[in-house]
Amino acid sequence: MNKVFLTGITGLVGSAFVVALLRERQDYEFVCLVRRGGGKSAAERTEAIIRDECRFDGCPELADMILKHVSVIEGDVVTIDPEAMAKDPILAGVNKFFHCAADVNLGKDPTGKVFRINFEGTKNVVALAKKLGVKEFHYVATAYVAGKLKGTAYEVCPTLDNGFNNPYEESKCKAERLVRESGFNFSIYRPAIITGRRSDGRIRKPLAFYRILEFLGKVKSHRSSKMHLDPADWMAMHINFSTATTDRIYFVPIDYVQEAITALFQKPVTNTAYHVTGDSPVSTLQILDSICRVLRMDDLTVGRNNGEESPESKMMARFVGDLYPYFDSNITFDQSNVRKALGDKILDWEYGTKSLETLMRSFFLDYFPNVEWLQKVASTEPDREPRY
Ligand SMILES: NC(=O)c1ccc[n+]([C@@H]2O[C@H](COP(=O)([O-])OP(=O)(O)OC[C@H]3O[C@@H](n4cnc5c(N)ncnc54)[C@H](OP(=O)(O)O)[C@@H]3O)[C@@H](O)[C@H]2O)c1
Repeated sequence: MNKVFLTGITGLVGSAFVVALLRERQDYEFVCLVRRGGGKSAAERTEAIIRDECRFDGCPELADMILKHVSVIEGDVVTIDPEAMAKDPILAGVNKFFHCAADVNLGKDPTGKVFRINFEGTKNVVALAKKLGVKEFHYVATAYVAGKLKGTAYEVCPTLDNGFNNPYEESKCKAERLVRESGFNFSIYRPAIITGRRSDGRIRKPLAFYRILEFLGKVKSHRSSKMHLDPADWMAMHINFSTATTDRIYFVPIDYVQEAITALFQKPVTNTAYHVTGDSPVSTLQILDSICRVLRMDDLTVGRNNGEESPESKMMARFVGDLYPYFDSNITFDQSNVRKALGDKILDWEYGTKSLETLMRSFFLDYFPNVEWLQKVASTEPDREPRY
């Protein structure tokens, strides 16, 4: 029996990984560190999320079986006492760690919370793994440990030399280095920007990029009601994303992340990092065009503008400007280790314009069921092309 100590089961990646692995193999047991929250105990939260993930993955009937393989310890990676926790009998026999918990906030970190969770938390989890004498440490990092690099990022030890776009990237880079230096055999998984699955664009927990869609939907709603217009009609937005353009935006579908990490996890652990980014980046203009088609928006532009930005563009930069670095990133993520471990076929997919539109439509359909105009535009094709 393999016994895995896992953090982050309530998150997008952790839940997808646990459900996929246990569907495939029942010789695994998980002990999960989970926070309580929202008036629910850690165990209640875990059960609700596993059931939700099983529903999402089309296997609700497997939830009970999966839950039998999952036990929960209540706690926070920042405040656990590794020495005391290691004595908990529930951890006896743990032989692998899978550390996935993180604060994925890409904004400023004035209180140091992101750094505490992502770096100090990893330090505590590593200390616990040492106390338990495990041999294997699996860590979910991010492709953007590459920071401000321009060019090809390889699946090697990340450097601090390129600088970072935000405290999140720096904390994740330092945490990855800590794992590498800890003396365990390690596998490191580096996803890029996780988006909806390939089949229907849906996602169980929309993060990061989805804030842009939500923001633009709200701006259009608000403006239409002020001007007594139908928000489902075309509208000139006069908004500019003040960022350069690129064709290197690595949206990676959640089902690919799930499939690749589950497969890599079962390979021999050889002190290797894997770019779980896919090999089919999209461009800023493709994303913009898809947004405009789905939300029926004209005059939504992108480009560094040295002149005065409109008040709407400034507002946009204020609310979602932390995402801009990912919209003009010029990094190519090398796939050598992924290809070597899993073969070329796993990378044989493309996230083109049609898929982008599908993931946007699914987001509005699933997360705004009561907003009539969003339901309408998300479920119909536009009658013309956007004007810029
Ligand atoms: N989502 C992406 O696009 C993306 C891209 C690249 C890399 N990643 C990496 O993938 C990993 C998983 O992220 P995700 O996408 O699954 O994000 P997520 O859905 O926000 O999940 C984060 C998980 O970490 C847990 N967590 C956060 N702070 C904690 C703490 N102090 N103590 C214990 N648990 C804590 C959360 O628990 P609660 O439910 O209690 O908050 C949740 O289970 C992270 O390491 C992230 O850096 C994500």
